[in-house]
Amino acid sequence: MSDAQVEPVVDQSRRTWVAITCGAGAVAGVATAVPFIKTFTPSERAKAAGAPVEVDIADLKPGEKKTVEWRGKPVWIIKRTPAMLDSLKSDVAELADPESRRNADDLTPPYARNAQRSIKPEILVAVGICSHLGCSPSDKFTPGAQPSLPESWGGGFLCPCHGSTFDLAGRVFKNKPAPDNLQVPPHMYLSDTRLIIGEDKKA
Ligand code: FES
Repeated sequence: MSDAQVEPVVDQSRRTWVAITCGAGAVAGVATAVPFIKTFTPSERAKAAGAPVEVDIADLKPGEKKTVEWRGKPVWIIKRTPAMLDSLKSDVAELADPESRRNADDLTPPYARNAQRSIKPEILVAVGICSHLGCSPSDKFTPGAQPSLPESWGGGFLCPCHGSTFDLAGRVFKNKPAPDNLQVPPHMYLSDTRLIIGEDKKA
């Protein structure tokens, strides 16, 4: 198996994406990756074809993440704490595209072209698929040195396939295989606690 190949397995009970990587380029000590996959039921496939997805985030607490499916992709919704937001100010020099200029039309809607890459500063909405070869990065929210991460780590995501790292706004760090930031999908708020993913203007 090449280092780009994964064998995805869906854990239906937890609605997460799990895969086993066997590639030579996989990060040592990390056995699982989380790629986006296609093993949905028929009704899920219909939804995956493009319908917007409504999400209630009333129960999302600071520091927590919720994952929903949109067009067959995992979309993360993360409620960032003040400390998480502070980390976005200190890592700018280490980022490949801190102002989200690359492929902006595809990756960052105009309302997310800011340091937080979000409409509301605390709420990040991002497609959880690495811009290198499509694995899904793992949460690494705890700051500080840890396996595969530097001492200066401020919290973010680590792609276990080839080691790309992203900060808590989904911005990719320099000198990593992933060329681009994580995609912020079209989205908008229907109320303070209801989001719609896949649509960003009123019908
Ligand atoms: S898929 Fe290669 S670093 Fe993420």
